[in-house]
Amino acid sequence: MSRLTEGVNGLSMVHLVCGSSTADIYLLGGTVTSWRYNGEEKLFVSSQAIYNGVKAIRGGIPLVFPQFSQPLKEMPQHGFTRTSKLDLQDIVSSETSSQVIFTLTHNDSTLAVWPHKFQLFYVVTLSSDSLTSKLTIVNVDKEPFKCHTLLHSYLSVPHISSISVKGFKGYTYIDKLTNSSIEEPEEECEVNQEVDRVVLAQIDKPLSPVTVIDRVTKTPLIEVNTICTYNNQPIPFDVVFWNPWIEKAKALADLGDEDYLKYVCIEPGTVSNWVDVDSDGVLVLQQTLRVI
Ligand code: BG6
Repeated sequence: MSRLTEGVNGLSMVHLVCGSSTADIYLLGGTVTSWRYNGEEKLFVSSQAIYNGVKAIRGGIPLVFPQFSQPLKEMPQHGFTRTSKLDLQDIVSSETSSQVIFTLTHNDSTLAVWPHKFQLFYVVTLSSDSLTSKLTIVNVDKEPFKCHTLLHSYLSVPHISSISVKGFKGYTYIDKLTNSSIEEPEEECEVNQEVDRVVLAQIDKPLSPVTVIDRVTKTPLIEVNTICTYNNQPIPFDVVFWNPWIEKAKALADLGDEDYLKYVCIEPGTVSNWVDVDSDGVLVLQQTLRVI
């Protein structure tokens, strides 16, 4: 049964059940740490992840808001949401889905690093073959603000050498490693070295779906479908494509040395440009992961 329970180190988490599928979502950051389909784990969490209620959990689906990377130095990298404790509002189950609803409202510590009033809603919906993460940001301030949003999804793969990623051909990406801008020529992108790219939004050509496929059999493994809207109108979104490879994995204290072989990050979001959110404006970023 779907319920509020305790996870690692007694941290509060919600366990969702829908048929034979399950999902775990920590109140810390609203981080989804597990999505099991037919008993098989589809998300990756680091073998060295730290569950101390303060540090962001390394893996699953951390929420990135209000900034991606660290353009504003007074705020931590990827914003404060992934280290904030979200408020649990409700757990709702039906025959076809199970859902949890969280909120986060500006408070003294968020205002200290980002002086804007916001209301965040985060709804995670588990169905028998999909997991939907819907992040809604409402500007409850009198003034407009600018923000980034991103769903930092760590997708579990059997072995990094056995998969490729489809859906980027013809899109321009910023290679964060060389700071260059490149048009993707490949139908399928393999990961055989460090990859850190922001694949750029295109108006009228959404970056959806992006599919992780088995490189040999060409079978799709997981499909990432994204929708992004501002005041109910579709807006363009980017997709970050990341794997730290050998040296960066070693440098990350909360990532096992061999863990880079076990995942690929496909992270839809609005990060290449700030989104201007007017007073009462509503920005929605929704990702659906589906097993094919
Ligand atoms: C990705 C970024 O989204 O997140 C990378 O593109 C970054 O540059 C990675 O290294 C992990 O970030 P963090 O803050 O969780 O270590």
